[in-house]
Amino acid sequence: MQQLAFDTPLIFDLGQRGRANKYLPSAPPPDEFLPADMLRADLPLPDNTELDVNRHFTRLSQKTFAIDLGFYPLGSCTMKYNPRINDAMANLPALRNLHPFAPDELAQGALAIMWELERSLASLFGMAAFSLNPAAGAHAELTALLIAKAYFKKIGAAATRRTVIVPDTAHGTNPASAAMVGYRVVSLKSDSRGRVSVDEIKAAIGPDTAVCMMTNPNTLGLFEDHIKEIADAVHAAGGLMYYDGANANALMGNARPGDMGFDLMHLNLHKTFSIPHGGGGAGAGPVGVAEHLVPFLPTPVVRCNESAGAGGWEPSEGKTFGLDFDRPDAIGSMRSFWSNFAHMVRALAYVYANGFAGLTMVSKLAVLNANYIRASINDIIDTPYDENCRHEFVASAQALKRETGVRALDIGKALLDRGYHAPTVYFPLLVPECLMIEPTETESKETLDAFIADFRAIIATARIAPEAIMEAPVNTVVGRIDETRAARHPDLRWHPPTAAAAG
Ligand SMILES: Cc1ncc(COP(=O)(O)O)c(C=O)c1O
Repeated sequence: MQQLAFDTPLIFDLGQRGRANKYLPSAPPPDEFLPADMLRADLPLPDNTELDVNRHFTRLSQKTFAIDLGFYPLGSCTMKYNPRINDAMANLPALRNLHPFAPDELAQGALAIMWELERSLASLFGMAAFSLNPAAGAHAELTALLIAKAYFKKIGAAATRRTVIVPDTAHGTNPASAAMVGYRVVSLKSDSRGRVSVDEIKAAIGPDTAVCMMTNPNTLGLFEDHIKEIADAVHAAGGLMYYDGANANALMGNARPGDMGFDLMHLNLHKTFSIPHGGGGAGAGPVGVAEHLVPFLPTPVVRCNESAGAGGWEPSEGKTFGLDFDRPDAIGSMRSFWSNFAHMVRALAYVYANGFAGLTMVSKLAVLNANYIRASINDIIDTPYDENCRHEFVASAQALKRETGVRALDIGKALLDRGYHAPTVYFPLLVPECLMIEPTETESKETLDAFIADFRAIIATARIAPEAIMEAPVNTVVGRIDETRAARHPDLRWHPPTAAAAG
């Protein structure tokens, strides 16, 4: 690549060929850096007033959907309300302006926040310690499996412990993370109750088992009721239990993975702990470990100079903190600097706004809301595994499709027309024509009732005029698109308005 002059701005103005840009006098021509087919046609940048630009972006922001605009029952993604107090805290100038290279002595408040969050998570989930390093659920899975690998290496078992067991109800990131760490994935079929079969898992466990990854409640919204038995069997074979805590909104404060026998776990702070996330991920994915895995946590670890560190939550008043990099067994660092610090502030604000008792109630209400919707629509649409769910449930449009041609996708599109975000569709894969609904605890009964009424109206319409549902959405900014084509051949260029469109 061409060497840039010292004063060359690191921004290439792709529009400058049409007009001189006095701010970028020495920017190299873009053609040398970008493939020819990615270059914009020879268009001058429009001259716009600040107000026009403002309007443009405001208009764009209104073309999307957000939790602040309407109900967002996107199963598996826990799209709850993100309280404004979280952002107010993250935006405090003393935190926002802190330099990532600030020495520990000048960053005591920020380190105290990280430590208190870490202690809170450890207490709530029954783990010995957490790393706040990873930036997402998938990144956390990778981190945890690297920790497992380092552990097996340390005890001289890395060569034999080569497989990771993953049930078919798991999120796709589980097998992907295991494969990235070099493990062979053993996939387990769930039983007729939508859970891991204890017999199957016992048959799959062997001397080569490194880790068994479990999501609990699983992606069907069902609690794995034999979890202790499974954990005992994995441990007896010398393996480790991993808890995918992306669904922690279902049990936070009510049950602790540490008590169920898990050695490693992750949380999606951007779900359970009310941090903004677009369309499902990402943000912050702390990894928790049991005592024997603490030495392998990524660096840096926030060290409290006055605490034994093994107990539960403690106040930080009167204590001093440092970032500990000197950890010989650590797997290294998974993210630069302090990772996503602003999200840690948001999560701790959420913990303190609710208190541990409040967080326990959060989960109870999330479960109640999901069951309320399920029980209010299961007479008009199949809900396989028909029993009380946890924070979410799956419905299947398979029978409806057979009778009317209306698919899960069409129901999702019809919901868009009525001002809702669509539920997750076609996941998990084991339920045909699946709709996965997760209301979260932050919705009012009025909102749930309105959703139920609209859902019922859509199914009723599907039975008498299916084509009306198949044409949806008709009230949204963008109508029905060819999603496969949009994903495979995205058109990301700006097209100037044509004369016909302008007229
Ligand atoms: C059960 C489960 N595990 C893992 C993930 C991955 O999390 P992230 O999107 O933060 O990478 C998700 C995300 O939806 C999930 O639902």
